[in-house]
Amino acid sequence: MTSQRMLIGGEWVEAAARRTLDVRNPATDEVIAQVPDAGPEDVDRAVRAARRAFEEGWRDTTAQQRGRVLFKIAEAIRARRAELAELETLNSGKPIVESEFDVDDAATCFEYYGGLATKVHGEVVPVPDNALSLALKEPMGVAGQIIPWNYPLLMAAWKLAPALCAGCATVLKPAEQTPLSILHLARAFADCGVPAGGVNVVTGYGETAGAALVAHRDVDKIAFTGSVEVGKIVLRSAADTLKKVSLELGGKSPNIFFADADLEAAVDGALFGVFVNQGEVCSAGSRVLVQRPIYKKMLDAMVEKAKRIRLGPGIERETKMGPLVSREQLERVQRYQEIGRREARLAVGGGRPSEAALQRGYFVEPTIFYDVDNSATIAREEIFGPVMAVIPFDSEADALRIANDSPYGLAAAVWSRDIFKCLRMVKRLQAGIVWVNHMQPTYVEAPWGGYKMSGIGRELGPWGVEEYLQTKQVHINLSEQPIGWY
Ligand code: NAI
Ligand code: MG
Repeated sequence: MTSQRMLIGGEWVEAAARRTLDVRNPATDEVIAQVPDAGPEDVDRAVRAARRAFEEGWRDTTAQQRGRVLFKIAEAIRARRAELAELETLNSGKPIVESEFDVDDAATCFEYYGGLATKVHGEVVPVPDNALSLALKEPMGVAGQIIPWNYPLLMAAWKLAPALCAGCATVLKPAEQTPLSILHLARAFADCGVPAGGVNVVTGYGETAGAALVAHRDVDKIAFTGSVEVGKIVLRSAADTLKKVSLELGGKSPNIFFADADLEAAVDGALFGVFVNQGEVCSAGSRVLVQRPIYKKMLDAMVEKAKRIRLGPGIERETKMGPLVSREQLERVQRYQEIGRREARLAVGGGRPSEAALQRGYFVEPTIFYDVDNSATIAREEIFGPVMAVIPFDSEADALRIANDSPYGLAAAVWSRDIFKCLRMVKRLQAGIVWVNHMQPTYVEAPWGGYKMSGIGRELGPWGVEEYLQTKQVHINLSEQPIGWY
């Protein structure tokens, strides 16, 4: 077990109140580290450090300089690939192969924004006067960033990289369950050229450290990823100081299979869509809509494959599904498994695995419910675990109606060999991303965010950096005549 500190103003510090919180290995329930349990005083110290870093240098760096810092962070990630992946798996539970993928993705994210730094352009506006009108892009200032536990390092990258690219200083609060990978990487920041206070990593609980960050008067922007429930709290609290807010919240995404889809690809796509990362994915394809002619056949094939998914500690290379992140999440998913048993028919899973070796960790079985009505709780609420709800449909119109009948709108996928049908669906689905004949690939170059209650704003690509910029209008009078009004 290690005792760790957090990063404030370029120094590794304890919480002012000397309190700590336990960090666990979800595969064994063991405490593997203690990190500071930051309170409002610590958050205030971090925000002041960020403000100082911003005002005293970072805001005046050139885009080229910031780009180089971001490239160095990417290199630092690649140089630590194995240790970061191992730490990520140890702390979040996810299979090591997925952690390696996430670490690579995090490096790619910093690289992308390193390149984008020199491509953030303002505009020249053709105003009807003898004048030069400019729209300049400027950094927001100090960003507060609150992230979840399902992709700990990658979510940190999605937040830090665009903020630094824009020229903001940041205070990042990782999820209390999973602070280890970002704390590890943060040790490299100074050598990469991040100024003291440019990035602060404050560990602590959401209700205390997170809430203090959102409420702080000197934070200009809040970026949050997590539950709808907390997203609403964040938005309400940020209203008091009128901060710019972006929210990436959950989903109940439909994965839609027409009868003319390639069946083998469909079965794989449905399972991957909801079981990857133990189902702890905001864009999980947790509602699987299947057209009646292939309903039985596809269900049987999914069940056969689901039975063979290998559960185990993420650190074992053969593992395809690790434990859930925490006891709290395990209990939440178990509750939904119980609800599902009453609301629908259970095809496979439905509880905890029976193997003795898996009893201490937070493991649940990959679970498939079928004949689910779209009004059922398991079809409406985000579960954030490996639980699939299979819903039959008849026509294209049916599929569309069921798919859009959800408070969420993060993602959707359509599977068919008929491109016309696919494109009609693409046009009408209410979701921030629609995949055709695939589900889940996400690229740092392309926009990410939700419709409806899945969020506000877009991350990644040039859209992501916009969230950290504001626009200044500059009017330069080219006429040497007086205004001539009085
Ligand atoms: P959560 O929304 O409580 O936690 C996410 C982050 O917000 C964490 O860093 C947490 O410390 C922070 N937080 C919590 N309360 C806060 C507050 N009052 N003010 C500021 N920050 C606060 O999510 P939780 O409880 O871990 O998971 C509950 C459910 O949320 C999951 O079952 C899932 O449905 C959803 N979720 C969605 C995610 C997504 O990627 N969209 C990620 C994580 C959870
Ligand atoms: Mg919570």
